[in-house]
Order: sequence, then structure tokens, then C-alpha cells
Amino acid sequence: MRIEASSHVSGIVHTPGDKSISHRALMISALAPGLSTIRGLSDGEDVAGTRVILEKLGAVVRHTHDGLSISGGDLHPSRETLECGNSGTTVRLLCGLLGLVPGEHHLDGDESLRQRPMERVSVPLGHMGLAFSCDEAVMRLPLVVATPTHHLRALRYTLPVPSAQVKSALLFAALRADGNSVIEESIRTRSNTEDMLRQAGISLESEDKGEGRVVSISPGVPKAVNWSIPGDPSQAAFFVVLGLIHPTAQLRINQIYNGPERIGFIDVLRRMGAEITTFEGSGVMDLEVSSQELVATRISSSDIPSVDEVPALVVAASAATGTTIFTDMEELRFKESDRFSGSIALARSLGASVTSDANDFAVTGVGSARNFNSFSLPPSLDHRMVMAATVGGLAGRGVTIESPDTVATSFPTFFELVRTLTS
Ligand code: S3P
Repeated sequence: MRIEASSHVSGIVHTPGDKSISHRALMISALAPGLSTIRGLSDGEDVAGTRVILEKLGAVVRHTHDGLSISGGDLHPSRETLECGNSGTTVRLLCGLLGLVPGEHHLDGDESLRQRPMERVSVPLGHMGLAFSCDEAVMRLPLVVATPTHHLRALRYTLPVPSAQVKSALLFAALRADGNSVIEESIRTRSNTEDMLRQAGISLESEDKGEGRVVSISPGVPKAVNWSIPGDPSQAAFFVVLGLIHPTAQLRINQIYNGPERIGFIDVLRRMGAEITTFEGSGVMDLEVSSQELVATRISSSDIPSVDEVPALVVAASAATGTTIFTDMEELRFKESDRFSGSIALARSLGASVTSDANDFAVTGVGSARNFNSFSLPPSLDHRMVMAATVGGLAGRGVTIESPDTVATSFPTFFELVRTLTS
């Protein structure tokens, strides 16, 4: 797909329902006896895959006039393999949820997901009594999870790598433990599972500790909830950067989830000199941006836990004046594609110069998106890299995207929206 530079960018952006909240709304509803409803679910393939798996496990999902209803609370193992597609959130959260479903479960995923590390969930869930097996020396999909009929062991655990997916898996399994579990993280990752389990009546306490937090959870059965899902801030990040670096842009992005661990990219861009107007609502925010000049900054993974917004920020750094340093970015290597080397390649393709050292890299920008090169993005890169490259192409001199379809995993209408904003 060829994306040409656009002469202007303007309009209103509605992002899909937040992907993290969507997966969790489906999973908690499947665990809850009775009827839950969900409005605003993400329409991406990842979330659709989670829904299909939960149906295989016995949840009954129906369309309603404004969303979905889910009848849950009676899950059982499926004879079929649980196919997690491209989605790390699906497979890792599912491993914890299966702790509540005694029996044997077979899990698999696509080529990318088969490469991604699973010890981060299999080790702590193993301490709780789940048994994981696979054919490889290291824990990778396809794998088999065996859940005992008796209660799981309560866990006290400090996450070696801060990860909302792992924390969430452990919180799900802790619902069927023989006592209270305590999970500690050294950097505060998104708190959606904690917030949503509390909303579903689970007794859970969360306390900040330095830059991290400690979460204590009691066993229990979630109750049915009527969920309403706000827009996805990680998808908004692409449009915020587009609105800032495109030479003639004016964008408003409406109704995105405003959890503090998800909107760190806004502070980073403000440090780069961006004026971003925010309008706070209840649990959501709107943003307004227009064309501006950016300057370099320092970005640490603790500014944007889970590093989902790095590809968009790499494009911003490539348009900025000066050298932006990205530090402690190892987790980029373990996403749907290797976004560490992907980010470096993207910045170089745009015309920026890049150096890297261990888990850090430095991007010296070209001063303005007007100075970007026309370029081509190879097919091996994932949905967020494709969306970031598109932003670079629209604001600069165009881009050829070799695998545009990957956006369907999280944002199927991305290119349609781009067309509306640029026509
Ligand atoms: C997610 C957690 C993050 C993030 C992913 C969604 C979640 O991954 O990258 O897109 O919904 O819990 P990590 O848990 O690996 O940081």
C-alpha cells in the first residue's frame, strides 16, 4: 500500500475501544455467574480471538442492540486448541484464567506469538500449582496447561520484569487460591485488571511503593457488570504525533481512557515542546493538537510502561531537533515483532541518524517532518510499526507499507480513518 504525503490533516478521531480493557471485560464476564454486558468493545482481531476462546470454554456471547451480552460462570476445558493468534495479552491473561478451569488446555498462536517468552507466566503460575508443558527447551507455544481440581496455592511474588499481562494472569489465578496473594511490581503498569476486578466485587488492595506498587488480592468470584469501554490511548498516540509533526494539521481525539500508566506519552511530547490541550471527563479525556516544532528529550521505559507508544514517539523524535535518547527499552524486543530493531530501522528510513548501545538507542532528528525521506516498511513488522510508519509517510514524503493488513489486529479501520482525515 502506498501512502502519499497529505497536504493537510484535520478532523475528529475516535479510536477503537481500549484493547486492554476489552480483553479483560470479556474474561471477567466469562468468569462471572449471570449476565454481563459490554459496550464499546475493541473491534480488532486480538479481542475477537479472546471472545472465540471464551466461547470454546463455555461462555455464551450474544450481540445486543448496543454491544454484547455474556453469560458466564460455568467454564470447562475445551477439546479444541485455544488459538491465541497474534495476541500476547490473550495468551498470557488466559494462562491465569485457566487456573480457574480444572482440566487440560491446549494453547497455540501464530508464528510471531510462538516466538514470544512464556516463562514469565509459566514460572509464577507453576508456583501456584498449574503445570505447563511444551516441546521446546524454553517455554513457548504451542503448550499444554494442566489445572488441578484442588485450590491453587496463594502467591507472594515480585515480577522480575514489570508486565501488566503477567500481573493480570496472576491476579486471575489468585481468585481460586487458598489464601490472599500479594503481587509486587517495580514500575507501575496499567491497573485495568485491579480496577475491573474491584468493580466486579473482588476484594483487592493496591498501594504505591516507590515507582512501583503492591497489590493484595483475596480469592473470590467476580460478579456480572455492565462494562462501558473508553477509547484506546495507545492508538490515539499515532494521531497525536501526526497532528504535531504534520506541517498543516489540526486534530481532536475524543474519549480516550485516561489511566495514568497509559498517557505517559503526552508528558513525553510536552517535554518535547508540544502544546497538547486536554479536556478531562470521568475516566476519559479528549485531546487537541496542531502542527508544532519539537525538540529532543530523554525517554525511559518507566515514562511509558509496556512501551507500546515507542513506535509513535520514534517518529516524533525523528522529526525533532536534537538527539532523543530512549533508555531501558529491552521489552521492545519481545513484542509482536522486534520493535527495538524495528524502531531503529524506521527512524533511519525517515532520515534520522541512530546509535544504539545495549537496551538504549539515540535518535537524532531531521528538524521537521518536511525533511523526512520517502521510504518503504518491510513486511516483518507489526501493527504498531505500520501505524507509526504511516504517520511518518503522511507528515513527510510518503511511505510504501508492505503488510498493511496487520493493523487489523488492533485497529481495522485505521486506514479508513486516515483517508477521512486527509481528504
Ligand atoms: C498489555 C500489556 C502490555 C502491552 C500490551 C497490552 C495488557 O504488555 O504491551 O499491548 O493489556 O496487559 P506487557 O504486559 O508485556 O508489558
